[in-house]
Amino acid sequence: MVRALLFGALALLASTGSAYDVIREYSGNTFFDGWDFYGAPDNLTLGNVTWVSQTDAMSLGLAYVNTQGNVILKVDNTTNVTYGQERNSVRITTQDAYELGSLWLIDINHIPYGCSVWPAFWSFGPQWPNDGEIDIIEGINLMTYNQMAIHTTPGCTQSGSVSQLGTSGSTTDCSQPAGCTVMETSPNSFESGFAAAGGGVWATKFDDTGISIWFWSRPDVPQSINQSTSASSLDLSGWGTPHANYSSTTCNMNEFFTPQNLVLDITLCGDW
Ligand SMILES: *[C@@H]1O[C@H](CO)[C@@H](O)[C@H](O)[C@H]1NC(C)=O
Ligand SMILES: *[C@@H]1O[C@H](CO)[C@@H](O)[C@H](O)[C@H]1NC(C)=O
Ligand SMILES: *[C@@H]1O[C@H](CO)[C@@H](O)[C@H](O)[C@H]1NC(C)=O
Ligand SMILES: *[C@@H]1O[C@H](CO)[C@@H](O)[C@H](O)[C@H]1NC(C)=O
Ligand SMILES: *[C@@H]1O[C@H](CO)[C@@H](O)[C@H](O)[C@H]1NC(C)=O
Ligand SMILES: *[C@@H]1O[C@H](CO)[C@@H](O)[C@H](O)[C@H]1NC(C)=O
Repeated sequence: MVRALLFGALALLASTGSAYDVIREYSGNTFFDGWDFYGAPDNLTLGNVTWVSQTDAMSLGLAYVNTQGNVILKVDNTTNVTYGQERNSVRITTQDAYELGSLWLIDINHIPYGCSVWPAFWSFGPQWPNDGEIDIIEGINLMTYNQMAIHTTPGCTQSGSVSQLGTSGSTTDCSQPAGCTVMETSPNSFESGFAAAGGGVWATKFDDTGISIWFWSRPDVPQSINQSTSASSLDLSGWGTPHANYSSTTCNMNEFFTPQNLVLDITLCGDW
C-alpha cells in the first residue's frame, strides 16, 4: 500500500558566518511554486510509474496542499493497472539550484513505504554524474532505516575516519555504482517507525569543507529548528555529530559538485 507524503516545510538557508539566514522556503499554499514536474515515464530508475505533469498531478489528486497546510505527494492508489501498464506517480525538481555554502532543511510527517515502494529526496547537478549527487532520504521495500549516499566521478572517496553517527557501506569510492552510502542508525528514520513517531527533520550542510547530513525523529527535533522562522537565522552549534559526514579532505567539493537541484520523487520497483 502506498501512502501520502506530507511536507511541512522545506527551508533553504545560506551561511553568513557561523549562522544561516533563510534564502528560500517552500511550504504551504506556495510550496509548488518553483518546482518542475517530470511529465514522462520513469526512464531514469526504470520503475513502473509515469511521473505525471503538474496539470495531471493536480487534477488526479497526486500533488496538493491539504487543509492543514501540509503538502501531499502521492502515488495513484485507486486505479487498477494491468501488467506492463505504468501507475501514475510524481517527481518534482526545484527550478533553482543551491550552491556550496547552503543548508537544506526538510520537515516530513510521512514517507510512503511498503513492497516495491521507493521514495527519495535527493539532489543532482545538471550533468550527471559529473556535477555530483547527494541522496538524503532513500529506502525501498521494507527497509526500516534511511540510507544516505553521495555519487561522483572518480577521485572522491569517503574517509574512514570521519565522525558520523551512521554506518558507512563497504564502498569508499564514491564513483562506484552504489556510491558512498551511510546507513542511518538512529531509530525511526524510515518505514512504519518514521510514521508512528510523527515523522522528522533532515538537514544537509552543503559546504566546501564537506557534506554533512543530520536526522532528527520528531521528538528529538532541536529547539534551534523548532523555534526557527523564515525571518530568523539558524545556529548549528548544538547539533552535534552529523549522521553522515563526507569530508573535503578526501573529496574536493568544488571539483565534484556544482550547484544542486533538489528532487522529491516516488517510484515503484526499478533499478535500485
Ligand atoms: C489511498 O491513499 C489514501 C491516502 O492518501 C488513503 O486514505 C486511502 O485509504 C488509500 N486507498 C487505498 C485503496 O489504499
Ligand atoms: C526521458 O524521457 C523524457 C521525455 O520523453 C526525455 O526528454 C528524456 O530524454 C528521457 N531520458 C532518458 C534518459 O531516456
Ligand atoms: C480493482 O480490482 C479489484 C480486484 O479485482 C476490484 O475489487 C476493484 O473493485 C477494482 N477497482 C476498480 C477501481 O476498478
Ligand atoms: C516494470 O518495468 C520493467 C522495466 O521497464 C519491465 O521490464 C517490467 O515488465 C515492468 N513490470 C510491470 C509489472 O509492468
Ligand atoms: C566530519 O568529520 C571530520 C573528521 O573527523 C571532522 O573534523 C568534522 O568536524 C566532521 N564534521 C562535522 C560537521 O562534525
Ligand atoms: C520540537 O517539536 C516537536 C513537536 O513538533 C517535539 O516533539 C520536540 O520535542 C520539540 N523539541 C524540543 C527541543 O522541544
